[in-house]
Amino acid sequence: MKTMQWSISLLAMLVILVVGGATWATNASQPFIANQTITTTVTTTLTSTMAITSPVTNTLVITRASGTQSVGDLNGFKMMKVERGMTEIGKGCVECHKDTSPGIVNDWRSSRHGNVGVSCIDCHQVEADAPTATQHETFKGTDVFISGLVSPGTCSRCHPQEAEQFTKSGHVRAYTQLVPKPEMQALMHKYEGQNHPELNDTSNQTGCMQCHGEEIKLGADKRPLPETWPNAGMGNVYPDGSVGNCVACHTRHRFSIAEARKPNSCASCHLGPDHPDIEIFESSKHGHLFLTSGNEWKWDSAPDAWEPVDYRGPTCATCHMSGIGKLNTTHDISDRLYWNLWAEESKPRGSNDPMSPLRGDAVPGREKMVTVCAACHSKLHTDGFFNQADKAVRLYNEAYYQPAKKMRDDLKAKKLLKDNPWNDEFQQTFYFLWHHEGRRARQGALMAGPDWAHWHGFFELQQDLYKLQDLYQKRISAGKIEE
Ligand code: HEC
Ligand code: HEC
Ligand code: HEC
Ligand code: HEC
Ligand code: HEC
Ligand code: HEC
Ligand code: HEC
Ligand code: HEC
Repeated sequence: MKTMQWSISLLAMLVILVVGGATWATNASQPFIANQTITTTVTTTLTSTMAITSPVTNTLVITRASGTQSVGDLNGFKMMKVERGMTEIGKGCVECHKDTSPGIVNDWRSSRHGNVGVSCIDCHQVEADAPTATQHETFKGTDVFISGLVSPGTCSRCHPQEAEQFTKSGHVRAYTQLVPKPEMQALMHKYEGQNHPELNDTSNQTGCMQCHGEEIKLGADKRPLPETWPNAGMGNVYPDGSVGNCVACHTRHRFSIAEARKPNSCASCHLGPDHPDIEIFESSKHGHLFLTSGNEWKWDSAPDAWEPVDYRGPTCATCHMSGIGKLNTTHDISDRLYWNLWAEESKPRGSNDPMSPLRGDAVPGREKMVTVCAACHSKLHTDGFFNQADKAVRLYNEAYYQPAKKMRDDLKAKKLLKDNPWNDEFQQTFYFLWHHEGRRARQGALMAGPDWAHWHGFFELQQDLYKLQDLYQKRISAGKIEE
């Protein structure tokens, strides 16, 4: 499996080389181990949408540890070196931007892209008729058009597999799932935005959308409108129609695999009272390992070759994305999940539709997650752990959510709920029960963070339930909502 996957990415890389520019040879190498060398030379005329029209010669040099491994076996690589050229125009972007935006050029130069000669023009150049095509003064009269926006559609030209997996995952719906939900629209504009004539979008622009993403709209100058950009959210809808945001985890212009493997790359969104995944992680034994010895771990091993010899404990990426043992790396973060742990009531997953809260497949998902644990724990330990954790999900469903919902439905039928849910103690408490403490209890239990499972979880759940029972009794016996 692994061998095949690498062959595919190798193939993709050859395609990438074909897509690129010419002339300026950048030499770079990434050491893996040591020994025998294979040299492949690809010469071709460019026909890509990037429309750079000179023939290019690219040399891909791979040094392998032994003669017995196939080219597809990444574990055998000692060194991989790609020599490729850049056009005069491509060089010009770097030369000028080195002065106008040194921060960007510096990040790019020290990146893998910089090393293999994938440069500004490869990501920012677009066709003249692209919706975002603009021209620098310097290029007026030439056919060089650029776009400040770089969508996942652009990345997918060279990384089709990562983009396809992302598109199948729950991350892809992060923005689009909000659009059809009237209660969420009301929360953003009516309640948080206080129906302010000018400013009712402000709270969602600076909050919700910076995590969930936004539909990026363009002005007459073909540049993004400030109401919709900049945006760091996960599920952006770009003017070229592609959805997602690869920069959410691989910040520009380093686009680093090492950075994405650290828990901090998830923490900008997965934190706080309603999904404290970083807090759960940091307080778990795994976080203990990361925080005390993570600075000694090896973070930049090639995809699918990052294994427990490089690190002592798992990070978010290790469990949810990375290749480990016989599992391949995936950009589908829904692939290794059994439950949905953010919904009002947790159910086992079983849907292929990325818009469905149950996207995933419970039993194979759990098998994959267990395979992750098996790299460092015994079967006895892992089975025992999931036995405890799954019971916590059932306890939440059966002892808290279901009784609370029964009371809520009854009050609703008897018209004993206020119209404004955010100014009604029963509805507020019900919301905190599932959205805050209920998620903390469930996610804390399944990611081994006992403080979150207990003090911020079940302890508060029982307090919520007693409060709901009190309010329910009052409303039912008085036949009206308390003052
Ligand atoms: C002669 C100097 C020069 C050259 C050559 C140049 N740029 Fe720029 N570029 C600029 C300046 C100046 C800005 C505006 C910077 C700012 O707003 O801070 C800019 C802005 C940009 C932006 C931001 C988006 C926007 O529309 O403002 C991108 C992306 C960009 N350049 C990419 C490129 C690419 C790709 C090339 C090569 C094809 C290139 N530049 C060549 C000077 C240059
Ligand atoms: C691997 C693709 C890639 C390469 C290579 C690349 N960029 Fe970018 N660049 C991006 C992405 C993605 C964004 C974020 C755009 C967005 O929000 O849609 C971006 C944004 C920018 C911006 C606007 C960012 C800001 O903070 O104002 C500028 C300017 C820019 N790039 C210039 C450059 C220059 C100069 C180079 C070459 C040294 C370069 N880029 C190379 C992908 C790339
Ligand atoms: C023109 C082709 C091309 C485009 C477009 C491109 N990449 Fe790459 N990317 C490459 C090549 C080539 C490599 C190096 C592969 C290797 O070293 O095995 C690479 C490597 C990477 C890596 C691994 C970096 C590391 O630290 O090992 C990441 C992450 C990445 N790209 C993300 C992106 C993202 C995100 C975009 C879009 C914003 C993008 N790429 C656009 C060609 C491209
Ligand atoms: C830019 C914000 C952001 C970052 C960074 C981010 N996520 Fe998410 N994530 C979200 C949002 C928003 C959702 C909810 C998507 C939805 O259901 O609409 C989500 C959902 C998820 C889910 C549940 C998916 C499902 O099918 O229900 C998992 C698991 C997850 N993220 C893991 C990660 C991991 C691991 C990382 C880091 C490697 C990460 N996320 C980085 C915003 C982010
Ligand atoms: C700090 C980042 C962040 C902010 C701000 C944020 N969310 Fe989320 N949201 C997430 C993450 C992460 C998840 C996934 C929760 C999980 O997996 O437990 C999520 C889940 C959701 C879901 C459930 C997913 C689904 O498919 O139904 C909805 C709805 C939602 N958020 C709406 C909103 C709204 C509306 C706002 C603003 C009023 C908002 N969020 C603000 C990060 C954020
Ligand atoms: C939720 C965070 C997250 C998002 C979003 C994300 N990546 Fe990644 N990416 C990672 C992690 C983590 C790794 C390292 C996996 C490992 O350990 O090998 C990675 C690795 C990569 C690599 C190296 C090869 C591989 O597959 O391991 C490439 C290329 C890449 N990502 C491209 C992309 C592109 C293109 C997008 C947008 C479609 C994207 N990534 C979106 C987290 C993310
Ligand atoms: C030791 C492995 C491990 C680590 C480390 C880990 N997770 Fe998890 N994560 C899990 C397991 C197991 C589940 C529950 C899966 C299931 O449904 O059976 C889970 C569930 C989740 C969910 C809930 C998805 C839903 O259905 O609501 C999110 C979001 C998430 N993890 C994000 C993260 C983030 C972000 C980090 C790092 C800060 C992280 N995880 C660290 C193993 C891990
Ligand atoms: C890269 C290795 C690694 C992976 C993968 C890993 N763990 Fe751990 N885990 C450890 C280490 C090391 C400890 C700390 C042991 C100690 O406390 O001395 C630990 C501790 C724990 C603990 C705390 C209890 C204890 O025995 O210390 C739990 C629970 C746990 N892991 C569950 C899991 C689960 C479940 C998975 C898979 C979803 C997993 N781990 C994946 C290395 C790993």
